[in-house]
Amino acid sequence: MKIILLGAPGAGKGTQAEKICVHYNIPQISTGNIIREAMKNETPAGLKAKEFVNSGALVPDEVVIEMVNDRLKQDDCANGYILDGFPRTVPQAEALDQMGVQIDKVLDIEVADDVIMGRMTGRRVCSKCGATYHTEFNPAKDGVHCDKCGTELTIRKDDEPETVKARLQVYHEQTEPLKDYYQNKGNLVMVEGVGALDEITAKILKALEA
Ligand code: AP5
Ligand code: MG
Repeated sequence: MKIILLGAPGAGKGTQAEKICVHYNIPQISTGNIIREAMKNETPAGLKAKEFVNSGALVPDEVVIEMVNDRLKQDDCANGYILDGFPRTVPQAEALDQMGVQIDKVLDIEVADDVIMGRMTGRRVCSKCGATYHTEFNPAKDGVHCDKCGTELTIRKDDEPETVKARLQVYHEQTEPLKDYYQNKGNLVMVEGVGALDEITAKILKALEA
């Protein structure tokens, strides 16, 4: 199963991807997590990405396309994967087509901007394994450490309200046109992303099986 998760920043792509990948036993490929890891390790790509990420802009297409191209060649991708946060622009979608990738379903998680602004202040992330939590809606068991790997949770630098606003604008301008792109290909499914996490997961799994 090869799945793309589309949706605004904070729509719940990462949170839902963590559950879907367990269900299908396929890897979650989050370009955001790959980029943050590269920034932490100060690799050439990470150093290039830093100013874009911290201002809420998109990292240049060629940098991200190369990262994804490398990642999809790894053995664990043989039976499929979930792309969380890629493609984000029409050129990225075209690059994926040119790699010969056949996507089964493109799942668009719909959440209004004002709901997203409220969610982002409570987000906590694990800088080691990339898991996502929310202080109120999806808390870690002890509130401080990652349930999966025990690392202390942190706040993402780009979660400040002004940066979230910039990311939402970038989403509407550059990523939202992908809904039409995949609608035209016939594999777009939309799911309302507001409500209890488990209910949204159930709706997504149902949509993927349809
Ligand atoms: P990335 O890490 O992909 O960030 P994003 O798309 O901005 O999305 P988020 O991770 O912020 O949100 P999400 O949809 O995963 O929501 P989450 O599950 O965390 O990208 C970061 C940056 O990297 C970009 O700005 C860009 O610079 C760069 N980048 C990445 N990919 C790129 C690409 N392809 N091209 C170019 N640049 C790229 O949920 C949010 C919060 O809400 C959490 O706290 C969660 O617990 C909570 N929550 C989730 N669902 C619910 C619910 N139903 N009810 C209540 N709370 C909920
Ligand atoms: Mg995410």
